[in-house]
Amino acid sequence: MARITQELALCLPALTKAVFSQPTEANGAKKIELRPLLLKGERRYQAERLEGTKAFHENFTEAALLAWAEERLEGRYRQVLLVTETESRQFILKRDGSYKKTGSAAALPRPAGAQGHNREKDYILREGEEIPALVDLGVFTKDFKIVKARYDKFRQINRFVELVAQDVRDDGDTIRILDFGCGKSYLTFILYYYFAVRRGLKTEIIGYDLKADVVARCNEIAERYGYEGLRFEVADVTRDRLAETKIDMVVTLHACDTATDYALAYAVKHGVRHIFSVPCCQHEVNLSIQKGGELDLLLEHGIIKERVSALLTDAIRAAVLEDAGFEVDVIEFVDFAHSPKNLMLRARYTGKHRRGGREKAEALQKQYGFRQSLLDLIPGT
Ligand SMILES: C[S@@+](CC[C@H](N)C(=O)[O-])C[C@H]1O[C@@H](n2cnc3c(N)ncnc32)[C@H](O)[C@@H]1O
Repeated sequence: MARITQELALCLPALTKAVFSQPTEANGAKKIELRPLLLKGERRYQAERLEGTKAFHENFTEAALLAWAEERLEGRYRQVLLVTETESRQFILKRDGSYKKTGSAAALPRPAGAQGHNREKDYILREGEEIPALVDLGVFTKDFKIVKARYDKFRQINRFVELVAQDVRDDGDTIRILDFGCGKSYLTFILYYYFAVRRGLKTEIIGYDLKADVVARCNEIAERYGYEGLRFEVADVTRDRLAETKIDMVVTLHACDTATDYALAYAVKHGVRHIFSVPCCQHEVNLSIQKGGELDLLLEHGIIKERVSALLTDAIRAAVLEDAGFEVDVIEFVDFAHSPKNLMLRARYTGKHRRGGREKAEALQKQYGFRQSLLDLIPGT
């Protein structure tokens, strides 16, 4: 039976941030954030209370803070995040009024600024980390070992999140992400865990999928562990209305066929800064391409035509994004042996438009008569 005031007291000497959210009473502050500060050389703690749209600040000594926490915070917030210089821990309130730890991890240092792409490797998730949501999702066993049958998936997602972590470093205190075609949502949960628990950011993620049962299950798990800000919606991303708020990142992992194009088009149209997209089953070009010139030899045999069509699709996607002002890398994000669908388009908006590729793609489209949705969805600039 953890009492959150005691947990807070233990953390105080090394505390960097504490966040109390999801109040149990409608009339309390929506959220409270605690941070240490130095006042005339003395360590104090500042509480920021968010009430409506206003923020109120109050400074405390250690003893006064703990007395205030006992009176005003204990049992009154469903979700608590305690971040120290070395560790980040997340708790949720149980029905009996005690708190249960739902995640813990070594805290990540927040570097001063973004760096290039060739940075040291960040290990994001290790076997043995206490992430009960991954037990519910069937990725970890009850003692937090990787389920053997999920090993490849775990490796893929870990690598995916490592790449995200390398690129997204200095983007403020809040991150908003959309996952198109989230399926069972291993990636979505791990991204949430990384940003909310490891980095201590306010994290809002929506996972979209066609399958209502899978979406309901993912929402249940997110709710069970108090993952505020993580939700799932049933949507056909090629047709339905999607989030209209500011979004920082769009991710897709093996979203089928043109669902990837709609995700990329969303990112371009909504001014999204980061895209991490691993495409899958690029049928559209394969089904529509016809013979028309020097490349006809590549269309003679089904398997070669399929592979060429997939590569052509992704080359066109990269060219459209570059034309729209993104810097794009196409990388093999895991070994081919772990997943044959292993190309990732990693794009960051820079505002520099790279011309030429899109025009070449349009010329090929005319010559070979194929359809490619992103070319239709995003007009040339
Ligand atoms: C191969 S699964 C990948 C799931 C997950 N991203 C992962 O890597 O484990 C593809 C998912 O995309 C979803 N999907 C396909 N087309 C979609 C669409 N038009 N709108 C929303 N979801 C879609 C499917 O229902 C399926 O769950």
